[in-house]
Amino acid sequence: MSSPLRIGIAGLGTVGRGTLQIIISQAKLIEQRCGKKIEVVGVSARNKHHNRGIDISHLQWFDDPMQMASDPKIDVVVEMIGGSEGVAKNLVEASLKAGKSVVTANKALIAHHGIELAKLAEKSGAVLAFEAAVAGGIPIIKALRDGLAANQFSRIAGIMNGTCNYILTAMWEQKRDFDEVLADAMAKGYAEADPSFDVDGIDTAHKLAILTSLAYACAPAIGEVYIEGIRRVTLRDMEFAAELGYVIKLLGITATTEGGILQRVHPCMVPTSSPLGSVSGVYNAVQVEGDSVGKVFFEGRGAGDGPTGSSVVADIMDIARGTVYKPFTLPVASLAALPFAKVDALQSSYYLRLSVTDKPGVLAEVTAIFKNENISLRSFIQRGHAPGEAVELVLTTHEALELSMQKAIAAIAKLDIVRAQPTMIRIENI
Ligand SMILES: NC(=O)c1ccc[n+]([C@@H]2O[C@H](COP(=O)([O-])OP(=O)(O)OC[C@H]3O[C@@H](n4cnc5c(N)ncnc54)[C@H](OP(=O)(O)O)[C@@H]3O)[C@@H](O)[C@H]2O)c1
Repeated sequence: MSSPLRIGIAGLGTVGRGTLQIIISQAKLIEQRCGKKIEVVGVSARNKHHNRGIDISHLQWFDDPMQMASDPKIDVVVEMIGGSEGVAKNLVEASLKAGKSVVTANKALIAHHGIELAKLAEKSGAVLAFEAAVAGGIPIIKALRDGLAANQFSRIAGIMNGTCNYILTAMWEQKRDFDEVLADAMAKGYAEADPSFDVDGIDTAHKLAILTSLAYACAPAIGEVYIEGIRRVTLRDMEFAAELGYVIKLLGITATTEGGILQRVHPCMVPTSSPLGSVSGVYNAVQVEGDSVGKVFFEGRGAGDGPTGSSVVADIMDIARGTVYKPFTLPVASLAALPFAKVDALQSSYYLRLSVTDKPGVLAEVTAIFKNENISLRSFIQRGHAPGEAVELVLTTHEALELSMQKAIAAIAKLDIVRAQPTMIRIENI
């Protein structure tokens, strides 16, 4: 056996502790599979005296994680602090500059600064690995870069935020509205004290930008992701979705279009019977569509100490074995400058819920606007009958251009018969 790979873990929260736990409990298996030991040399966190339920007394404590970057006893720095700026970024930069390989689960950092960091890694010959940054325990990065490497990808769609999927599942199962379920999730610790990164779709966008970069060998383009979160999803829309054979999920979708790659994060109606439609609670799932392989579906736990630690340790094991990949599949200079399309260019089917005055000719007024915009109606449901009062009208369309749909919605909202802002949800036939 060769000399051990010596690592420093910066951050001992959920993922840092989970990583340490796996390295300790699976030490023998890891050594057998890598041909060398993985030895944790030192750890760092904010509070040295916090009881973490794991014995760290024999490990060197670093008050300042930045010291790990220059410590000759450490070969690999495992960054488990989080955040796209500040200490996490400084630590990863300094470590890579010093030639130390870095393993991180930090999707915000990779989505925003992955290219600068990949350049530093190339320059010093270090490895930058981030399997745990997307979908926790699901090895989707390795799958895109390795097992599915021979494919051209037409679409990748995923449920990549467990908090959102938990909230949407609970809304439907408990027949409660968003605000109530979110408050409950926060009280139980299933959602962060500031849940905006999750519920506003930003966390999913970070992960999607990373998957896009691996699938198309381009730089992560977080600024090119169209983002809508789940705050406006209502139980009423879930009920109509069920009637139409759909379930509402927050998806991150990247797909090739005529105008370039389109990256989007928004609530979608997906067929209840589809694999993505069946993923409930905190689970994550990603469906990849490749020209040779067809559809491949991955499902598993997207967060938590064990699943995320499993991916972090797998990256460390790759480094121990000497299995080295470019962070974004190719050297930075060879990455493609691909065109990105705007959501206006999306071709999709749509669900539209209107509150309208119940009187003759309402549907005709709405469909006249659809006709002007070249949108073809697929189905409609009118709920209630109360002449002169408000009733609900639910429409679905065949595939239409998003820009046309947006224009139609703006025109419909101005009709005298329309009592409230229309609700639109895209239907993803997947
Ligand atoms: N949680 C998950 O399931 C999950 C899943 C996938 C990816 N991730 C990513 O993994 C990373 C870590 O997430 P987490 O959930 O484990 O976070 P966490 O539980 O909040 O833990 C963060 C850790 O960083 C330490 N820390 C914060 N500021 C520090 C500083 N200035 N110097 C030294 N240590 C510092 C904290 O110290 P104290 O403990 O002393 O406060 C804590 O141990 C993030 O990038 C996150 O996006 C998390």
